[in-house]
Amino acid sequence: MIEVTGHRGAAGLEPENTLRSIRKAIALGVDRVEIDVRVTRDGHLVVIHDETVNRTTNGHGYVKDLSFDELRRLDAGKGERIPTLEEALKLTKGKVTLQIELKVPEATEPTIRLVEKEKAEREVIITSFMHDLLRKVHDLNPVLRTGALFFDVQGDICQKALDVKSEAIHVYYRNVDSKLVDEAHKRKLKIAVWNPDEIEDMKRMINLNVDVIGTNRPDILLGLLKEMNMR
Ligand code: G3P
Ligand code: CA
Repeated sequence: MIEVTGHRGAAGLEPENTLRSIRKAIALGVDRVEIDVRVTRDGHLVVIHDETVNRTTNGHGYVKDLSFDELRRLDAGKGERIPTLEEALKLTKGKVTLQIELKVPEATEPTIRLVEKEKAEREVIITSFMHDLLRKVHDLNPVLRTGALFFDVQGDICQKALDVKSEAIHVYYRNVDSKLVDEAHKRKLKIAVWNPDEIEDMKRMINLNVDVIGTNRPDILLGLLKEMNMR
């Protein structure tokens, strides 16, 4: 079965990376929810994509320069607050896999310790573009599954993922072709693609036989898979 990941929750339908967006993705029936994690000035793990709060909230400034209290006062859309990683974990636990993208190196160890505290080791996948962080995750706790993120396909990306003990390559969908899918499968890696939001692009990914499709519009993808009798 092709797994469906709600990107930043269901970011095409609700304010990205909010609990409301995560709830929406779960209600639609996704298998995974993807979120981004950063650290506040005073060391709290928070769910936000950009390095500043400018685009997604009514505030401004760098996440790393704001205290947790300052950041929590902001409106992240429709009255939502920027969630903590702990809130996201509690909301998804027992329902869907939480795909946690480490946006900064400082998030690595605290994220792993929190996942352990919540006993969610088997319900998360840790991803990053910074592949050395994935190696660190593996060293901290080898039970944890990781996925290496890539925008383009330069060099032997399967080997790069294997080198840091990842179970999957996560590649920008426009840069994925059947050669890459075959290569990943031959080397016992999963291939996840991010993030087609148009139906024609989703169909191409399904026909390529990828393992996981992330999207901001899980409603469209799940509907399509149902139509194709794949759900
Ligand atoms: O899942 C991969 C994707 O989330 C990476 O890109 O910029 O949306 O975090 P970005
Ligand atoms: Ca992300």
